[in-house]
Amino acid sequence: MAVRTVGIALNGVTGRMGYRQHLVRSILAIRDQGGLRLDDGTVLMPEPLLVGRNPAKLKEIAQRHDLARWTTDLDAALADPTIEVYFDTQVTSARVAALRRAIAAGKHVYTEKPISETPEEAVELARLASAAGVRNGVVADKLYLPGILKLKRLLDGGFFGRVLSVRGEFGYWVFEGDWQPAQRPSWNYRTADGGGIVVDMFCHWSYLLEELFGRVSAVTARATTHIPTRWDENGEAYQATADDAAYAIFELPDGVIAQVNSSWCVRVHRDELVEFQVDGTEGSAVAGLRECVVQHRSMTPKPVWNPDLPATEDFRAQWQRVPDNAEFDNGFKVQWAEFLRHVVAEDPARAPFRHDFMAGARGVQLARLGLLSSAQGRRLDVPELAR
Ligand SMILES: NC(=O)c1ccc[n+]([C@@H]2O[C@H](COP(=O)([O-])OP(=O)(O)OC[C@H]3O[C@@H](n4cnc5c(N)ncnc54)[C@H](O)[C@@H]3O)[C@@H](O)[C@H]2O)c1
Repeated sequence: MAVRTVGIALNGVTGRMGYRQHLVRSILAIRDQGGLRLDDGTVLMPEPLLVGRNPAKLKEIAQRHDLARWTTDLDAALADPTIEVYFDTQVTSARVAALRRAIAAGKHVYTEKPISETPEEAVELARLASAAGVRNGVVADKLYLPGILKLKRLLDGGFFGRVLSVRGEFGYWVFEGDWQPAQRPSWNYRTADGGGIVVDMFCHWSYLLEELFGRVSAVTARATTHIPTRWDENGEAYQATADDAAYAIFELPDGVIAQVNSSWCVRVHRDELVEFQVDGTEGSAVAGLRECVVQHRSMTPKPVWNPDLPATEDFRAQWQRVPDNAEFDNGFKVQWAEFLRHVVAEDPARAPFRHDFMAGARGVQLARLGLLSSAQGRRLDVPELAR
């Protein structure tokens, strides 16, 4: 059996996402399952090279997973001819410079979102990647969540009739860090370090809404910093300069309105940390990370507003669970497999990868316009991005 190895420089692998989702749950999981079988019977086997700033941490991770290769020298990694793919999961502010170097070195490039902090940089990266002829992609993990896949199935099957609106609720309480440690890194709450919930989440909402309902044509948003002081990893108080909540309305094709709240300052009274309710003329659905429930037009109750009487209906019980009908793998891993197949395909059109740098750029554009809409207090059109 022929084995085609693909060397991958993974930069930022000591971080939360880099370690858990990308190294352990994706690359090592693909290796553990015996690689990826290609159409011609060849087995594609990813070979990671861990890249980072802290030698002790890299060495420890390499030893823990029996991996031979790690380095703190990015240029040496990029000069290595066995490395075909550069993957970036560093803090957002460090990303553009590293991606530029990888493209200049002729590597295929895959990156965590957001691809950059500004749309101009994102488009420039897309242009550079295209000019260099390297294949490129941005993580779009939410598309692969079981709940969202079920929602997509309902849309494809025409369950909703005419879709009217979408209501998204994302968030949970992120501890300030004083009496209980914060569960997210402190850079997320400093604008200068690339933090902010708009920059973090609007790129997710961009591809999610685009893939499910069509491209966002206008945005109205209000972003705010509810908690002005937080405590960092060393227990030091710092000023939270970045937005920690955003309340947005996105306009979609055919008059569909999506209203999405994103917040790190909200306590959860929902079934999942993110939920989207879609209402259509023929039925409605609520999709979360894993589950999706529906209510058809024919099964819709007729509540009557009467504040003098206690509610007698169990509204949640009036919904039906959508069956799995499939096995759902880790979304990061599924997307890694798609990207690696795209990288080795002689004809990339035969193993397409939809979420390329231009799609990533649209996410950064939506974040920029969301922040601008908030600062100016007005609705903004989302123009087509030119490459
Ligand atoms: N797809 C998703 O759902 C998702 C979720 C969370 C974060 N992310 C993205 O993943 C990236 C990493 O986020 P994370 O939560 O893993 O962060 P993290 O702080 O846990 O990890 C950051 C990594 O970047 C490295 N790094 C390089 N330069 C740095 C610098 N100057 N300062 C600090 N660290 C530096 C760190 O060593 C570490 O390996 C971010 O771009 C973030 O937007 C994506």
